[in-house]
Amino acid sequence: MKDFEKEDIEFILEEASKLEDIAKSKAKSRELEGKILGLLFYEPSTRTRLSFETSMKRLGGDCIELGDASNSSVAKGESVADTAKMFESYCDAIVIRHDLEGVSRFLSDIVDVPIINAGDGAGQHPTQTLLDLYTIKKHFGKIDGLNIALLGDLKYGRTVHSLAYALGMYDVEMTFVSPDELKMPKETLHDLEKNNIKYKQTNSLKDVIDDVDVLYVTRIQKERFPDVEEYEQIKGAYSINKKLLEGKDLIVMHPLPRVDEIAYDVDDTEYNKYFEQAANAIPVRMAILRNLITHRYE
Ligand code: NCD
Repeated sequence: MKDFEKEDIEFILEEASKLEDIAKSKAKSRELEGKILGLLFYEPSTRTRLSFETSMKRLGGDCIELGDASNSSVAKGESVADTAKMFESYCDAIVIRHDLEGVSRFLSDIVDVPIINAGDGAGQHPTQTLLDLYTIKKHFGKIDGLNIALLGDLKYGRTVHSLAYALGMYDVEMTFVSPDELKMPKETLHDLEKNNIKYKQTNSLKDVIDDVDVLYVTRIQKERFPDVEEYEQIKGAYSINKKLLEGKDLIVMHPLPRVDEIAYDVDDTEYNKYFEQAANAIPVRMAILRNLITHRYE
């Protein structure tokens, strides 16, 4: 997200809104015909992988996939750098998800096709952020002026790291709500402060829930805890349900998957924006792919 300026974000959001009809299959596009997207997912993924694949296909392109690591040369000990080098000669852009922070940045230095970070460990998840912003803008017609709370595992959650950087480019009130053990990393806070970006921190949702326009909820990232005992102690630390939200004027977002942090009774309420958020992945990722792939061949 640090590579982006506000104009870049606004450009993608604008492009995405023009692609809604193609995303919903109401119109056709062959714009990326003959182009191939490489999907390198070393960590589990449902929405991100499938929405990149759908987006590429809706634009007339195709995908190749590393698939299950145990079924590829990864099982023989091939490094991610070698695998990416090979993918480079097979496709026009690469989407990578890996548990190593900074891996996509590293690959972008050694590979000549565009590299899209689809999640690097506890680092960042910038394309998720773009669809999050798209969802907010679509609902409110703006991002500036809103009061936004990021709730949950702010330590290991990569979506909230990217989102904090991006929201820092807008005129928003930003509050980080988490148990003390799962606060936003010092490095991220330091970056925000360096850029004069204001934020608040609290461990109590009650402090903010009456004032927020957007409540962005995240899952506790069990797989990133070095010690499973630590996870066991903190799991279930917060949970949003219909009763808690009653009378509040806000939307609830979540990158998904959820575990127990949003009760199912919220699904049928007007607070629920998380499924629409997942659907918005298509026009936004279409806009990203189209710009990265076609500009390369201009
Ligand atoms: C997120 C991720 O992988 O970081 N999922 C997603 O891409 N929508 C969130 C998570 O796993 O909690």
